Amino acid sequence: MSRFTGRMGQAGVMPIDPWTPNYEQAPGVAGGQEKQPYIDFGTDRLSDNEKYYSSDVLAKEWDKLLSKAWIVCGHINDIPEEHCYMKVDYGRESILIIRGEGDDIRAFYNVCQHRGTRIVKDDFGKARSFTCPYHAWSFTNDGKLAHLPGRETFREEVLCRNLDLEPVRVDQWKGWIFFSLDPNVGPLDDYLGERFRASVGAYDFRNFVRVYDVRQTWTTNWKASIEAFIEGYHVSSVHSATLTPVMDDYYTQHDMYENGHGRTIFPFMEPAQSYLRSVDGKVEGINEEMKLFLKAAGVPEDDYPTKWQDVKAAVIKGKRENQAKLGFDFSGFSDDQLVDDWNMSMFPLATFNAHPEGVLFQRWWPDEEDPRKTHYSLQIYAMRGECVIPSYMPIHPDADREGKKVLQPMYLEGMGSEALGPVVMEDVAFVPQFQKGIESRGFRGANYGEQEVRNRQFYHEYYRYMNGARNA
Ligand code: FES
Ligand SMILES: [Fe+2]
Repeated sequence: MSRFTGRMGQAGVMPIDPWTPNYEQAPGVAGGQEKQPYIDFGTDRLSDNEKYYSSDVLAKEWDKLLSKAWIVCGHINDIPEEHCYMKVDYGRESILIIRGEGDDIRAFYNVCQHRGTRIVKDDFGKARSFTCPYHAWSFTNDGKLAHLPGRETFREEVLCRNLDLEPVRVDQWKGWIFFSLDPNVGPLDDYLGERFRASVGAYDFRNFVRVYDVRQTWTTNWKASIEAFIEGYHVSSVHSATLTPVMDDYYTQHDMYENGHGRTIFPFMEPAQSYLRSVDGKVEGINEEMKLFLKAAGVPEDDYPTKWQDVKAAVIKGKRENQAKLGFDFSGFSDDQLVDDWNMSMFPLATFNAHPEGVLFQRWWPDEEDPRKTHYSLQIYAMRGECVIPSYMPIHPDADREGKKVLQPMYLEGMGSEALGPVVMEDVAFVPQFQKGIESRGFRGANYGEQEVRNRQFYHEYYRYMNGARNA
């Protein structure tokens, strides 16, 4: 496959990345991942720092962007049967998403049409009808008003109005559920774009089930939070202890898709260039993380390679040869996909780190009115069944790998927790410091390098919404 495909020749599209190192130069990479054309988002310093702390900007974001875009909020297997529902709190809104027959889903504002009370409190549940706690109006789970006590005390002019729940636009892609507060939003498939959807064609997301779910409110702006998760430039400094022994952050592939979605492929099972420099290129044997990957690939301990340079090939060979024993069909995946980390972002509020067996799904949702708050959620989705998922993805002891029993989220107090895992903990420890600095009058604005092209792409899309161009 050519490294450069797609929208060649269009304005703003350059045939050659200005940054020379690329993923296919990483040791052991087989290549062949379709590389999207580089899109030139310029080199300007982004100096509108108030977007990180201004309440006025946040109000405008809710108006122009957050109420207009498609927002990924969960997965069809979170509501595994007919009449299952989930409640999604988004800014000042609360939305009920309900499973109908088969794969059908529908969504309504979680708001009683009598006098506006929130109806449902639980995150997940199963019900054929919902009863408002205030005066006990009840609604069927397809949104129709079913009963109001003391009906005879209402005049006919009131009763003949539409008193049903207000619908919300909702759709699915490969099992992921999206909603939009904009009733006139365009089709979800167009929003995601053909190239983005094609890029994850091999992953069987539809058969993933939620096995871990933690949520926490961070004391940072939502964009400041997301920015730390769509670039790998900080890995060598912030994650030197955890990631650099097993993941390269230099020979990476950054792909930018239409409508702000993106991907970075990080080579796994090879030390970062910064790590190799720190040990003068001398790495003794293979480390514990590499052993876990080999074990997960069904490689017997006696056959473990002695040099890190051979680990990637051994993992790939192990997964291919042992797939029946591992309970997984890897045939649709490229060799690199069996090992490497695909960091995908779905504009504006979510990323997932995808492996064939599991996905780390993260969301950073803005607060309704405080620009210095982010409502963070970290969820792990694993392929249904018993296959081994990457060792950095925790599984909750209550999780049902068949997905029949719905896992309740854990709400964490404070900022940071061991429950977030060691890598995210390093980000959480650092991000508030970033928030403090960007509020300084001494900060002249952000200067992005080519390892941060997706941050630049993020803001390009962000401004399209904020300036009204996206929906013009
Ligand atoms: S507000 Fe819901 S029944 Fe009165
Ligand atoms: Fe990080």
